[in-house]
Amino acid sequence: MKINKFISFEGIDFSGKTTQINILKKKLEDLNFKVLVFREPGGMDVAESIREIILNNDFNISRECEMLLFLSARAELVDKVIKPALLDDSFVICDRFVDSTLAYQGYGRKIDLNLINNLNSFVTKSILPTKSFFLDIDLSLMDQRQNINSNDRMENSGKFFFNDVRNGYLEISKNDDRFVKIDASKSIEHISEEIWNQMNIFLGK
Ligand code: TYD
Repeated sequence: MKINKFISFEGIDFSGKTTQINILKKKLEDLNFKVLVFREPGGMDVAESIREIILNNDFNISRECEMLLFLSARAELVDKVIKPALLDDSFVICDRFVDSTLAYQGYGRKIDLNLINNLNSFVTKSILPTKSFFLDIDLSLMDQRQNINSNDRMENSGKFFFNDVRNGYLEISKNDDRFVKIDASKSIEHISEEIWNQMNIFLGK
């Protein structure tokens, strides 16, 4: 099976992933690639319904349930959409994937990392992104960018939690060639150029 046009974007909330994903999508489409973009949790009917539960501020969800909901949403997205798209030779860009669960539920909520790794492999059928762009911002920038009045349940998890999540990302990305760590406090243009340079290496240009 030739599965290689799979890119994910990772980072703490308000790191600017969506803006960069839209820029990358446009550049790839300009080169006539088929490009599909999905957000996690979500991206298709069942997973979007799960997303509504996860992000709902009215719910007090245990960390075990939260993790399994993220994984359930991922199982369905991979099975119904991502795997078929990759087999069809499309580019798939995912706004978050397996590493979000490691960073948020593993480092953030302190769930065993081996357990998460095993469950991630199970729900993804071991399909991994070829490149993962980690857009790194510090917590003070996150604070500046957020509007606390419209925060969802995850965003309301507090400063200590996000500090652990960011440290988790730094740890996960440190020793893995799949990751490209990017200083996301830079300008939109600077970041998109850095991403495009990496993509050119990926495309063999
Ligand atoms: P979203 O509004 O999409 O945030 P963002 O735009 O920053 O991606 O909400 C997704 C939230 O869910 C976000 O706070 C990260 C969190 N999350 C996890 O905790 N674990 C996961 O496995 C995934 C995919 C997301």
